[in-house]
Amino acid sequence: MTKSTQTHRKDEHLSLGTNLWRQDQNINVGATFEDVRWIPKTFPEMAVRDVDTKTTLFNHQFMWPFYIEAMTGGSELTGKINGQLASVAKTTNIAMAVGSQSIALKEPDLVESFKIVRKNNPDGFLFANLGADHPIKNVRAAIDMIDANAIELHVNVAQELVMAEGDREFYWLDNIADVIAKSPVPVIIKEVGFGMSQSTIKILNKLQPAAINIGGANGTNFAVIERRRLRHQSTINIDNFGLSTVETLISSHIANNHLPLIATGGIKSVNDVVTSLMLGADLVSSAGYILNKLMSSNQTLLIEELEAWQASLPLLYTLLGAKNKHDLQQTERLYSDNLSNFISQQKSNLS
Ligand SMILES: Cc1cc2nc3c(=O)[nH]c(=O)nc-3n(C[C@H](O)[C@H](O)[C@H](O)COP(=O)(O)O)c2cc1C
Repeated sequence: MTKSTQTHRKDEHLSLGTNLWRQDQNINVGATFEDVRWIPKTFPEMAVRDVDTKTTLFNHQFMWPFYIEAMTGGSELTGKINGQLASVAKTTNIAMAVGSQSIALKEPDLVESFKIVRKNNPDGFLFANLGADHPIKNVRAAIDMIDANAIELHVNVAQELVMAEGDREFYWLDNIADVIAKSPVPVIIKEVGFGMSQSTIKILNKLQPAAINIGGANGTNFAVIERRRLRHQSTINIDNFGLSTVETLISSHIANNHLPLIATGGIKSVNDVVTSLMLGADLVSSAGYILNKLMSSNQTLLIEELEAWQASLPLLYTLLGAKNKHDLQQTERLYSDNLSNFISQQKSNLS
C-alpha cells in the first residue's frame, strides 16, 4: 500500500519523537519537576493501606491517576502500536487516548488502526482525539469509531506554524463552543506540549469543557520534531518556546481555574505524577516516555514499569502524609529561585 502524506507524517512523528526520548534530547524550557522539592513529613500518622489513589472525573472513577496520552494510529505501524498500548492499558487498568483520528476520517482504510484499541480493551476508558477545527459531525464520527468515553480536541498553534504545510488560520473558539455544547461525551481541550497561559485558562473557564489538558513543555517537543522532519528548513525556530507543565499548573491556580486539570508534558516517572497532582492536576498522562519504553524494550517491560508506578504511589503518598489527591495538594513544598521568580511575575500579571 502506498502511504499518503499524512500517513508518512505519522510514522515520522513516531520515529523522531521516540528518538528524542531515547537520546535524552528533550529541551528544558523554564521550571522543571526538579524545581519542586517535597518536604519530609516526619509523623504521617497514617498507614500505606489508608491511601486512595482513585480519582473521579467526568463521573468516571479512574483507579489510577495516570494514563497513556494520545500518539498513535493512522498508519500500519502506528496501528500496531495502538493495539499494543491498548493491551498494556487493559492489563494495568489505566485509561488511554488515541492519536488524531482526522486521517481516518479522510482515509477509511486507516479506521482499523484506531478501532484496534477498543477491540483489545473492550471495557477500558478511551479518549478519542481530533484537532480543534473539526466540526461536531467529525467529532461524532471519531467517538463512534472507537466507542470513546471522552474526546480530546487538541490545540497546536506552535506546531502548525513550524510545519511548512501547517495551518495558517486559527479561528477555533466558536467551533470549540459548539462541540462542547453538542458532544455526546465529555470534551477535553488539550495542548500538545507548549503549555497554557493564565489568559487561556480564563477563556477555557468561560467555555466550560469537561477538563483542560494543560500540555506543558519539557517533554516531547513538536517544534524540534517538525524542524527535524523538515531537515531544519522551517521558517521559524521556536525550540525554546512555551510554558512547562509545572509552570502551567501553577499559572492555572493563580488564574483561579475551576475546571478539572490533566497534566501532560515530560512525565517520565511516578515522582513526576505525584508532583503534578500536588500542583493541582486531577489526572496525569504520559506519551513520549511510554512510547519509547515500548519501542526500545517491549510490552511486558512497559507493563512492569507501569505496575511499579502503581505500587509506588501509595508509598509516596504516605511519605508526604497524604491519603488522597486532595491531601497531596495541601502538602508543603519548596520552590527553586527560578520557579519562585516565575510565580511572582505571574501573580503581578494578574489582570
Ligand atoms: C509520536 C507522537 C505522536 C503524537 N500525536 C498526537 C496526536 O495525534 N494528537 C495529540 O493530541 N497529541 C499528540 N501527541 C502529543 C502527546 O499526546 C503529548 O501531548 C505530548 O507528547 C507531550 O507529552 P510527553 O512529553 O509525555 O510526550 C503526540 C506525541 C507523540 C510523541
